[in-house]
Amino acid sequence: MGKVKKDKKDKKEKKKERAEKSQSADPGHPEQKELKLMKKKALSKDSPKVSSFIYGCWRLLDDPEGADVPRIRQKIDACLESGISTFDHADIYGGYGCEEAFGRALKEAPDLRKHIEIVTKCGIMLVDPARPENRIKHYDHGGNHVIKSVERSLKNLNVDVIDLLLIHRPGPLMDPEELGAALDHMRTSGKIKYYGVSNFTVSQFKMLNSCTERKLATNQVEMNPLYQEPFLDGTLDYLIQKQIRPMAWSPTAGGRIFNDTSEASVRVRDAVQEIAARYGMEMDQVLYSWLLMHPSNPAIILGTNKPERIRRAVESKTRHLDKQDWYAIWSAGNGQEVP
Ligand SMILES: NC(=O)c1ccc[n+]([C@@H]2O[C@H](COP(=O)([O-])OP(=O)(O)OC[C@H]3O[C@@H](n4cnc5c(N)ncnc54)[C@H](OP(=O)(O)O)[C@@H]3O)[C@@H](O)[C@H]2O)c1
Repeated sequence: MGKVKKDKKDKKEKKKERAEKSQSADPGHPEQKELKLMKKKALSKDSPKVSSFIYGCWRLLDDPEGADVPRIRQKIDACLESGISTFDHADIYGGYGCEEAFGRALKEAPDLRKHIEIVTKCGIMLVDPARPENRIKHYDHGGNHVIKSVERSLKNLNVDVIDLLLIHRPGPLMDPEELGAALDHMRTSGKIKYYGVSNFTVSQFKMLNSCTERKLATNQVEMNPLYQEPFLDGTLDYLIQKQIRPMAWSPTAGGRIFNDTSEASVRVRDAVQEIAARYGMEMDQVLYSWLLMHPSNPAIILGTNKPERIRRAVESKTRHLDKQDWYAIWSAGNGQEVP
């Protein structure tokens, strides 16, 4: 082997050794062995790589066990040990408090940052003591607001860059040219890496997509047996056609499938219970497997505050329902046999 080639090889090996050493000495993440299990995949061509399950931070401050750093770390660690490396936030979660609570956990273990991807959102303006200037609930898609909101999220989360920024909801006053320019400005100035949307119709998605330099990474939409609209109104068809994976929020309908007394919830609960018993699965796992069978291949956003539920969620990736199970849950959701 020539000397130059050998030197190059030595350098490469040394670099690899250094990287491995620094990871195993890192107190901020679980064992190396566990981290190797992570399989990240992009949501589309212009998207960060994300884990197949994503941890949703909306309910972080509602945890009956509290929301101090050790408790939040328990959930972050349960995620990382299970191969979940992506965390979904929004400026408004927890009365504008969730990002900051999560940011405190990152501040105490700064090495965590290199193992995780951060998604956050902006655009909804809540009436909340943290925002006394908001007289009514409304949306702001103006460039100034979006940039200010991202800067605030970076500060609250204690991070230098947002991996994926989503426009939380569309609105009638949304000017796609102004918004697109703001998104590109934040990308080129290094505040965000990628951008996308949430709760957009197909036409709203196309409109904003035509005003940005890069493509929208995803559309984060509600998907569960009690909310079938995106399956039926073309939202998922369009994403499949464009090879864009959705992010699925409220996969258990915000917990209603477990405890709600409406007729539809009871029907879905009965169907899911029967299937869970037959396969020896938990009900939440059945709901995640149900979503994973859809050809849009959604990244499922978990909302549970229970570390044990986070851990068992990922097992549903290897548990398969059959088509008749899938349709039993679908029909229970809308109360009708398929035509
Ligand atoms: N883009 C948007 O507009 C939007 C809107 C809403 C949410 N999101 C995102 O989506 C994430 C997930 O939404 P979500 O929180 O509504 O998810 P979800 O999983 O549908 O609902 C979570 C709720 O279900 C309960 N739950 C889960 N598994 C359970 C089980 N096996 N038995 C009994 N209860 C169970 C949880 O209670 P425990 O904590 O006790 O498990 C929690 O109260 C949010 O955190 C947020 O990041 C986005």
